[in-house]
Amino acid sequence: MKSIISASCLLAAAAVSAASGGNRTAVYKNPNASVDDRIADLLKRMTIEDKAAQLVQGDISNWINTTDGSFNASGLVWNMQYRASSFYVGYPTSWSVINDGVRIAQDYLMHNTTLGIPALVQTEGIHGFLMPNATIFNSPIGYACSFNPALVQKMAEAIGQEARALGVNQLFAPLGDLARELRYGRVEESFSEDGYLAGEIAYSYVVGLQSQKVAATVKHFAAVASPEQGLNTGPVHGGPRELLTTYMPSYKRAIVDGGAYSVMSAYHCYDGVPAVANSYMLTDILRKSWGYKYFVTSDAGGTDRLCSAFYMCRASPIDKEAIVSLALTAGTDAEMGGGSYNYQQIPEMVKAGRLSEAIVDTAVSRVLRVKFELGLFETPYTGVPDDQASKYIHTPETVALARQLDAESIVLLENHNDILPLKKTAKIAVIGPMAHGFMNYGDYVPYKSQYRGVTPLDGIQNATAGQGTVTYAQGCERWSNDESGFPEAISAAEAADVAVVVVGTWSRDQTELWAGFNATTGEHIDTSSLDLVGAMPRLVSAIIDTGKPTVVVLSSGKPITDAVWISQNASAFIQQFYPSEEGGNALADVLFGDVNPSGKLSVSFPHSVGALPNFYDYLNSGRAWPDPGVAYPNGTLRFGSSYVLDTPLPLYEFGYGKSYSTFAYSNLQLSKSTASASDNITVTVDVTNNSTRDGTEVVQLYVKDVVASVVVPNIQLKGFSKVAIPAGATKTVSIPLPVRDLGLWDINLTYVVEPGDFTVLVGSSSADLRANVTLTVVA
Ligand SMILES: *[C@@H]1O[C@H](CO)[C@@H](O)[C@H](O)[C@H]1NC(C)=O
Ligand SMILES: *[C@@H]1O[C@H](CO)[C@@H](O)[C@H](O)[C@H]1NC(C)=O
Ligand SMILES: *[C@@H]1O[C@H](CO)[C@@H](O)[C@H](O)[C@H]1NC(C)=O
Ligand SMILES: *[C@@H]1O[C@H](CO)[C@@H](O)[C@H](O)[C@H]1NC(C)=O
Ligand SMILES: *[C@@H]1O[C@H](CO)[C@@H](O)[C@H](O)[C@H]1NC(C)=O
Ligand SMILES: *[C@@H]1O[C@H](CO)[C@@H](O)[C@H](O)[C@H]1NC(C)=O
Ligand SMILES: *[C@@H]1O[C@H](CO)[C@@H](O)[C@H](O)[C@H]1NC(C)=O
Ligand SMILES: *[C@@H]1O[C@H](CO)[C@@H](O)[C@H](O)[C@H]1NC(C)=O
Ligand SMILES: *[C@@H]1O[C@H](CO)[C@@H](O)[C@H](O)[C@H]1NC(C)=O
Ligand SMILES: *[C@@H]1O[C@H](CO)[C@@H](O)[C@H](O)[C@H]1NC(C)=O
Ligand SMILES: *[C@@H]1O[C@H](CO)[C@@H](O)[C@H](O)[C@H]1NC(C)=O
Ligand SMILES: *[C@@H]1O[C@H](CO)[C@@H](O)[C@H](O)[C@H]1NC(C)=O
Repeated sequence: MKSIISASCLLAAAAVSAASGGNRTAVYKNPNASVDDRIADLLKRMTIEDKAAQLVQGDISNWINTTDGSFNASGLVWNMQYRASSFYVGYPTSWSVINDGVRIAQDYLMHNTTLGIPALVQTEGIHGFLMPNATIFNSPIGYACSFNPALVQKMAEAIGQEARALGVNQLFAPLGDLARELRYGRVEESFSEDGYLAGEIAYSYVVGLQSQKVAATVKHFAAVASPEQGLNTGPVHGGPRELLTTYMPSYKRAIVDGGAYSVMSAYHCYDGVPAVANSYMLTDILRKSWGYKYFVTSDAGGTDRLCSAFYMCRASPIDKEAIVSLALTAGTDAEMGGGSYNYQQIPEMVKAGRLSEAIVDTAVSRVLRVKFELGLFETPYTGVPDDQASKYIHTPETVALARQLDAESIVLLENHNDILPLKKTAKIAVIGPMAHGFMNYGDYVPYKSQYRGVTPLDGIQNATAGQGTVTYAQGCERWSNDESGFPEAISAAEAADVAVVVVGTWSRDQTELWAGFNATTGEHIDTSSLDLVGAMPRLVSAIIDTGKPTVVVLSSGKPITDAVWISQNASAFIQQFYPSEEGGNALADVLFGDVNPSGKLSVSFPHSVGALPNFYDYLNSGRAWPDPGVAYPNGTLRFGSSYVLDTPLPLYEFGYGKSYSTFAYSNLQLSKSTASASDNITVTVDVTNNSTRDGTEVVQLYVKDVVASVVVPNIQLKGFSKVAIPAGATKTVSIPLPVRDLGLWDINLTYVVEPGDFTVLVGSSSADLRANVTLTVVA
């Protein structure tokens, strides 16, 4: 690897004119001046070229060769002349190459350009800082199952700490999207089918990340994740009431309450209007209704789609000016790379009178506001010396946190005859393609990271070391129908006391995913079936058929419909959504009872893909008259009508998850049973751990609007509380319930809390509701 120490010498030769770094006495350089004054002062000093450059994303590879680390001074000068807003650094290269590349760029911007405007430095981060050897947390759909916002906030703080140590100050996370279309490949990146849970988790992520002075980017705005046919970037159908009722709350919680410094517009069209040019979403809702002050960026290549996918402008040669007119004007302030860099047309358009400079000024102001509020003008570079980086990245504390969060996210689906927890002295056969050999991470992990981490076999071996006996047989490849490994796996099970079989779906890091390697989930990897592929289901059956107690672990990025028969036939059944790098240890923690499972499903499990969508908060009138039929495994058919041979009800509903403890609910009370829309109610309930084992319960609060002026969800989650309760103890759990949260979008699309009765329900899942009381709202 070539040294880049000589970079500054090279740069000095690069003919940088007016190397003042800005007027040091200028208002915008004064940290004591108000941000509004600083923006106004800077804006009036900027040429239209300076302004346009603040709206276009650059890339570190324009001046650093990410393969050998060498520096290209003219590439830096060129990048910052046209694309100075931000730059992307998410490359599989060493920390020092990134660190040096960022420092050189910020130094150059601050000292060698006329105005000295620092850049946003960006990479991905939905479940870990996207940089080799940074801590990998479990996938978003997984950590949402923890129902533990405080722990998610800690995770985001850790991610922020890691990012900052290399000078990165913006991450493209979290998602506000809802996992309501399970065929879609990006379910694993989303938090939940439910807007309240997704909002709480996204909010906690934003607060945690930004506490480290790293900007969050709430994406993909808005309502991208229910595409037609489940196909990535496909059209989403819905009207304004559905947008406001169902989709917007999670984004709003993260963006407005969380104070997110940026938002990313999405790839799809909603009701025939592309999100990237959707002034109803980006201006009417985000700006006028929510008062959002920071900036919106497009997704990679997202602006080009106006011409190339939506045919709202000429695709070849691409009509760049039309794209600027559509996207910038609607409220996509900044343009990400990955496309035609249409926003570089801005100066020409303004000079020719084809674009109002006021629109450009508004967009630039929003970008500058983030840079001022993040403190970048004072501290443009946050990276630490190379030999210090490991004090901030992948520390023992962040790794331990990954294990804790992962263990709290694991959902115990079945535990027939209390077969779990296992004894560490047992003879255990670990079986299955997801049990060892690679880490079954979700997408958005660094290139080749599947070779780093604790596999289920590693974790089980570690937990039982010196006590039991652990054997391993792969059984089959995940991508194959070949059963030649079955005999070995069956023998291993037969020779053991218990078998642990790990199967599921798989994804890839972004490099392999886009290079076309096989996968069954992930970005642009969509499916028409939620069944296990290849020999995996037959392997599970073959092991169960040995008669040995069999624990099936689904390691996946979404619900799998084989759960229907596995739930009946396995001795115990565990869902571990794509794990953290400590996944095997987290699984062992639960298997052996060092951690009592407390995860609850963030998405419902349907009986079949034909029953989709299967979310719990269907509108009143949904799921009417269920008369399910059955095709029994013995061949007997019992005909029903909805469905003929299946059921529309979920196998496992949203919020479901068992514990090694059991909990009884009693004494549900409201702080007042009659309230006005501005009141804040407290709901209390006594929860007793009536088992002999300390445990943790997620107490869930749902509300049903008894009579409403439009059709509303049958019930909706409005609060939850995760509480540790010692064996035999009772805790009084309090959950706040602001009455203003009980509103609906009326016939005129006005948000109103309508007077009348609301049923407040408390329970252990969206279907296991243990008690209810009535709240009467008065005008
Ligand atoms: C920036 O400009 C100054 C003054 O012209 C020069 O001494 C310095 O080497 C330049 N910095 C870099 C990183 O090239
Ligand atoms: C620097 O800015 C101050 C305040 O805006 C102004 O009075 C002064 O003339 C500027 N100096 C230069 C060299 O531009
Ligand atoms: C900002 O205010 C602080 C405290 O009043 C003062 O010490 C500092 O010199 C000021 N900085 C500038 C650039 O005016
Ligand atoms: C980066 O460096 C590698 C290895 O030296 C070289 O093969 C490659 O061509 C370089 N890339 C560019 C864009 O210069
Ligand atoms: C990641 O860590 C491993 C083990 O310490 C090391 O061999 C490798 O070089 C590191 N990779 C990068 C890109 O820093
Ligand atoms: C094994 O488990 C122990 C405690 O459960 C943990 O401290 C250790 O890090 C684990 N070892 C590995 C290699 O994961
Ligand atoms: C799936 O991808 C792996 C590489 O990860 C490859 O070895 C295997 O042959 C592929 N299988 C199929 C059926 O495409
Ligand atoms: C098949 O299974 C169903 C459900 O358990 C049962 O009702 C039926 O009698 C069985 N039929 C036969 C032929 O065993
Ligand atoms: C604990 O409470 C649950 C829920 O009320 C109940 O089903 C179960 O029987 C109770 N268990 C014991 C041991 O009392
Ligand atoms: C209810 O709580 C909100 C903040 O969450 C507060 O703004 C409002 O004033 C409270 N209402 C009452 C009646 O206390
Ligand atoms: C909706 O708007 C219409 C027209 O302004 C008005 O007549 C009607 O009362 C409004 N309905 C509600 C429920 O506010
Ligand atoms: C409320 O609880 C009662 C029993 O106490 C039950 O009959 C009723 O169905 C529950 N209401 C709802 C909406 O679940």
